[in-house]
Amino acid sequence: MPKITFIDPSGARCEVEVKPGEDDLLAIAEEHDVRMGSACGGVCACSSCHVYVREGLASLPEMSEMEEDRLDMGFDVRPYSRLGCQCVVGKADLVVEITQESLQVWFNEHPQHRPARGG
Ligand code: FES
Repeated sequence: MPKITFIDPSGARCEVEVKPGEDDLLAIAEEHDVRMGSACGGVCACSSCHVYVREGLASLPEMSEMEEDRLDMGFDVRPYSRLGCQCVVGKADLVVEITQESLQVWFNEHPQHRPARGG
């Protein structure tokens, strides 16, 4: 079973094992309480599930034109950027970094978990 390592912008890691070919990264993140934004509910209509795939990128399905268009709306898009909701996990292990953009959307969706501001 492939192992997915999620890394949030603070560097915190969460490792999970999943069945290959079943779920996309957003669904896996939600199932394991990983903070990944999902403003459109996973239908490729935003860029809030923007992640950096640090390892295993080639094992993911090819990017669709629609995903490319949506990623164009993202911040700090890199060659290894993907939308989590569009990446069904294959057989390879993955290392997936949650972008600051995605975490921010998650906090907007879950304001009760927003860190308290000092001062
Ligand atoms: S959650 Fe909107 S594009 Fe993935």
